[in-house]
Amino acid sequence: MRIDKFICKSTELTRSEAKKLLKMGEVRVNGDVIKNAATQVHENNSVTVDGAELTARSSRYIMMHKPLDTICSNVDEVYPSLLHYIEVDKAFDLHIAGRLDADTTGLVLVTDDGRWSHNIISPKKECAKVYRVNLRNAILSEKSVELIERFKSGLQLQGEDQLTLPAILDIINEKEVLLTITEGKYHQVKRMFAAVGNKVVGLHRQQIGKINLDVELGTWRYLTNDEVNSF
Ligand code: URA
Repeated sequence: MRIDKFICKSTELTRSEAKKLLKMGEVRVNGDVIKNAATQVHENNSVTVDGAELTARSSRYIMMHKPLDTICSNVDEVYPSLLHYIEVDKAFDLHIAGRLDADTTGLVLVTDDGRWSHNIISPKKECAKVYRVNLRNAILSEKSVELIERFKSGLQLQGEDQLTLPAILDIINEKEVLLTITEGKYHQVKRMFAAVGNKVVGLHRQQIGKINLDVELGTWRYLTNDEVNSF
């Protein structure tokens, strides 16, 4: 982890205050003065500020039920960041592992552990995300087998060179399905249904990996150790 981040995690200081301390030569790693904020430190390094040893707060892992009209960003835009709903210290030091659109609800995982979130976001890790999808056009029963096969074999999305990775489509009823995917391209689910001539009118993420959404809309909880270790 970067030394400036380590200082923020172990004190009440902001990133810019931590950088100032570094510039002033107040920070030592294993006895050596360190001024470069990008210097990497490890758990077993001794980091001192003004002679006092720092211990980093342990990482935080959170499940949040994202409401409509919030965004998965650390900065407010037309809609507010969903981090406003997470009433913890330094909530805006957290980041969101896998974005949802403003008009999508459901499970979002929030953390300050970049290595952990990589396991969720990277397509190479094949972490499954399950979406409940409401559709504008009914899926005709005589077309359903063919449609399931198309999602399984990969779809050509507009503007993409490669087909989508195999996806699992479970049809609940003619206008509602569950879709399991292991990648997270921009507007992926909406574009997948557009590619088969349909339109998503409601989208909700209910599961990431083994973690099922089990908190009310607009609320959050810390993940259990088992949940954290499941990635
Ligand atoms: N796919 C989408 O199209 N939107 C989301 O919010 C998530 C996946």
